[in-house]
Amino acid sequence: MSKQSVDSFGTPGAWLVAVAGAALLGSTAFAQDRVEELLAKMTLEEKAGQMTQMTLQAFSTEREWVETRHVLDVEALRAAIVEKHVGSILNQYDAAFTPEYWREVITQVQSIATEETRLGIPVIYAVDSVHGANYVQGATIFPQNLNLAATWNPQLAYVAGYVTAQETRAVGIPWNFSPVADVGRMPLWSRFFETFGEDPHLVSVMAEASVRGLQDGEGTQRVAACGKHFVAYSIPRSGKDRTPTQIGEIELLDTYVPPFEAMIAAGVDTIMVNSGEVNGVPVHASYEMLTELLRERLGFEGVVVTDWEDVIKLNSIHKVAESEKEATRQAVLAGIDMSMVPLKADFADHVVELVREGAIPESRIDQSVRRILKLKESLGLFEEPISPPDMLENFRSDRAADASLAAARESLVLLRNEGSVLPLAQGSRLLVTGPTADALPPVYGAWSFSWQGVEPGLYPDTPTVLDALTARFGEQSVSYVPGASFDAVIDLDAVRTAAAQADAIVLCLGESPSTEKPGDIEDLSLEPAQLALAQAAIDSGKPVILVLIANRPRLFHEVEPGMTAVIWAGHPGPFGPQALAELLSGDLNPSGRLPFTYSRRSGSLITYDRKWTEDLGTTFQMDAYNPLFTFGSGLSYTTFATSDLVVSADAEGVQISVTVSNTGDRAGTEVVQVYVNQEYASVTPHVERLKAFGRVDLGAGESRTLNLVLPREQLTLINRKGERVFEPGWFGVRIADQTARVELR
Ligand code: BGC
Repeated sequence: MSKQSVDSFGTPGAWLVAVAGAALLGSTAFAQDRVEELLAKMTLEEKAGQMTQMTLQAFSTEREWVETRHVLDVEALRAAIVEKHVGSILNQYDAAFTPEYWREVITQVQSIATEETRLGIPVIYAVDSVHGANYVQGATIFPQNLNLAATWNPQLAYVAGYVTAQETRAVGIPWNFSPVADVGRMPLWSRFFETFGEDPHLVSVMAEASVRGLQDGEGTQRVAACGKHFVAYSIPRSGKDRTPTQIGEIELLDTYVPPFEAMIAAGVDTIMVNSGEVNGVPVHASYEMLTELLRERLGFEGVVVTDWEDVIKLNSIHKVAESEKEATRQAVLAGIDMSMVPLKADFADHVVELVREGAIPESRIDQSVRRILKLKESLGLFEEPISPPDMLENFRSDRAADASLAAARESLVLLRNEGSVLPLAQGSRLLVTGPTADALPPVYGAWSFSWQGVEPGLYPDTPTVLDALTARFGEQSVSYVPGASFDAVIDLDAVRTAAAQADAIVLCLGESPSTEKPGDIEDLSLEPAQLALAQAAIDSGKPVILVLIANRPRLFHEVEPGMTAVIWAGHPGPFGPQALAELLSGDLNPSGRLPFTYSRRSGSLITYDRKWTEDLGTTFQMDAYNPLFTFGSGLSYTTFATSDLVVSADAEGVQISVTVSNTGDRAGTEVVQVYVNQEYASVTPHVERLKAFGRVDLGAGESRTLNLVLPREQLTLINRKGERVFEPGWFGVRIADQTARVELR
């Protein structure tokens, strides 16, 4: 088995591993000296300041905008950096800045830090560039993570990370709060679209590739990534953001921890903490999570940053600390290094007092400050606090745009295509309708030019779905009737009238972008107004092509049987509409695969890797798991067949060989997915779990035989003592409709 064939199966590829290896050579003995020398000179106040991160908003004058600039309160900024020794600043103020204005702001920050403070330690500035440098005007924007996951192409996650890092660093920002490595298994959750989907292996592979892309390069040429949010943030019991998670140790370690392990192995510089509570303890106050698990068990050595105001919230909302000072004591002793305070610098005062009173040993503070200074050092901030201006020359390159377009194309998932209604013939008369048809925010999603991404005025002039379809099919062929907004019917009669003149209806449904608390919903179903619009479309008798442009898999069982074709588009980004038009016209052969389970009804939100008990139905048949669209599904305009699955075991693990064929008449890409189940184990086995995958391009009629090895470590489980172990026994392997069994001793 060659290394190459293993690499092509779901790891980022040999060239990528080589590049990342080079990046790891960055640290020098010199760095250690500088850090230790500084630490020895620092006062307690200066140390506490390094651990303090404030938001730009704290130094900005109330929503006063002069064209694209906000008004910076330089005196407040100076007071924080010089008097409070604040070592880190985050965020934009309200809306994306131009690259030039970003550099002005960062220059102002760094000149105060390096010229007006005693030790001249540069500030580390941080931002959420979560799908491209989304707080910089004119940046290359990528599809959101859930779309990247739908490509099943880690190279794209790597490239998206790399471009994002270059464009973020070019404006002077060296630290990116990305990637989200939470596993998306609660479809109600407002941040579902920020995840790489529901499967721990897929999330791990994509998060690792993203970290490698973000951190690729030396010093000033890269950013520090931030894996977030440690841990089990994505599975709140209520589905609402920042509400309690209850989770057993086995599930925690088996499902939610692996992406963090993968990122740590890839050298992720920083990790952000989950804002919520897990099993009754806020993670920000949990020594068990932040020190025993993250540091001691997983071996993370980088910087741990809190999430927004989360030290204060130990007092104000979690109610585990009677004062903010006590909250500070709990969080620091639990293991945080930096507090995103973010509006006031009291945290630093509390740290100083707590150390003076003997409630926190100074050695604990030194540990955090050492990590923070090392991070600043490794990013080249001491040499070049602002980052080289020539980095702006590569801002928004054609190559980067091509990568975003490629990601959009590969991310569209064709889930149904009855009677091969798609692709649509040229000359087809189309009625385009629905609230996501002629709007940009849903195409980009939240974290686009503003936090919630809902201000259309901030968007660049890129085509909507309607624009792209009109460009491709011609003005004569495309008519548009809005039909409904997200939550109100506009005019269904107009839809009926227009439908009578059309050959097919492109029904664009979904939701307005949102994230975090503003994205909490009361019902996973699409809004009644949109279902009414869908019904009107169905009643016309014309084929209905449903395009879902949404944050999460909103349910639509009332109208589902009437949909002739269904496309999951998610938040495909600026090139999504073009890619969609190409798909509908047949120029693009779809290759996306669903990175989550699309449930039929709200009472059955079951992930594909369920336990056997979840299969048992009301009539005692094993038929309870019945999703609308399964994890990993997605159609092509050609057909694929899988054959000759041969599986054997040796000391290394499981050897697998399989043949994949394109049995249709046009070239296409199959995503080969290897699922494994252990037949019996000491803890209940999953029905199956994804262990490897790879995209395989096949010409019409072409066949390829693929070989791979699944190492034993891939076949381990978390036992009742919380240990990762291999338990010998029989394993099942499934690739598409091919299955085989193998015994491992
Ligand atoms: C979010 C984080 C984000 C931070 C800084 C928080 O509210 O939960 O994901 O990185 O804000 O913007």
